[in-house]
Amino acid sequence: EAVERVFSGIQPTGIPHLGNYLGAIETWVRLQETQGSVLYSVVDLHSITVPQGPAALQQSILDMTAVLLACGIDPEKSILFQQSQVPEHTQLSWILTCLVRLPRLQHLHQWKAKTATQKHGGTAGLLTYPVLQAADILLYKSTHVPVGEDQVQHMELVQDLAQTFNKKYGEFFPVPKSILTPMKKVKSLRDPAAKMSKSDPDKLATVRITDSAEEIVQKFRKAVTDFTSEVTYEPAHRPGVSNLVAIHAAVTRIPVEEAVRCGAGMDTARYKLLVADAVIEKFAPIKREIEKLKMDRGHLEKVLQAGSAKAKELAQPVCQEVRKLVGF
Ligand code: ADP
Ligand code: NA
Repeated sequence: EAVERVFSGIQPTGIPHLGNYLGAIETWVRLQETQGSVLYSVVDLHSITVPQGPAALQQSILDMTAVLLACGIDPEKSILFQQSQVPEHTQLSWILTCLVRLPRLQHLHQWKAKTATQKHGGTAGLLTYPVLQAADILLYKSTHVPVGEDQVQHMELVQDLAQTFNKKYGEFFPVPKSILTPMKKVKSLRDPAAKMSKSDPDKLATVRITDSAEEIVQKFRKAVTDFTSEVTYEPAHRPGVSNLVAIHAAVTRIPVEEAVRCGAGMDTARYKLLVADAVIEKFAPIKREIEKLKMDRGHLEKVLQAGSAKAKELAQPVCQEVRKLVGF
């Protein structure tokens, strides 16, 4: 049987936030200890689905690499690479694009949400980027993909595409499974109905790994809760304070019930500061490591080049076989 292979990606669009960290990166670090074959990609091709300046993009790719290394991604244990350096991603993506019907993509929540407010609609790239995601995963015959809840619908598309390809060209791709990360969804601090997101225009909604202690305190202080001052965990009825409890539990690695007990006898205003402190403490060593890594741009470039070479070695034979199956 085929090896178990884990694949996941993150866009180099700004510094990752608490949601990316708890919902993805922390799990990535854990998986590289327990799984034999693990690939993590800085998915720069995905990031140009929305406008990016070339200089800023180049910097963001290296910044993201520094963040991932600082969080504990170890290039000896996993293949850390830059998506665009492995051109097979776009080749497979095109082949898969020709296997998916337009309405299937137009019905995806993220496409609808991201284009709802755009006057001229999204780019074709924004529409088809879930197909590129499928190519990212299938190119390595990946079997497992750690993702947050926001990506579940896209994973269904990946599974459909693997099956469609197999039906048309013969059994070839494993149908990959999602690994839902324990912290499925970190909510926006300003709107607990929405997920915390890099692109949120409300700067207070998103806590980034490199935020200063003062910024973190300010953001938690301004976190939207409700009119009850008690600390409880009731995600359906009290999403704001429950998000704080979930964050507290996750960053200090305690069960939710214990986090609630820590908040007993406190009002939410005081509890917010306690959670802010826990987050500050969690990110402090990572922040120091990021600063150190960012001073050596050459090292970051080398890490990515070496990882991309390893990824290419895996991708090329798969892509070669795909071409043959398709008739090229
Ligand atoms: P964003 O949506 O903020 O731009 P990405 O699309 O680059 O972030 O997502 C990178 C990873 O982080 C994905 O695995 C995604 O599921 C996870 N993720 C993003 N936002 C959250 C969140 N608020 N809570 C949990 N996981 C998240
Ligand atoms: Na996302």
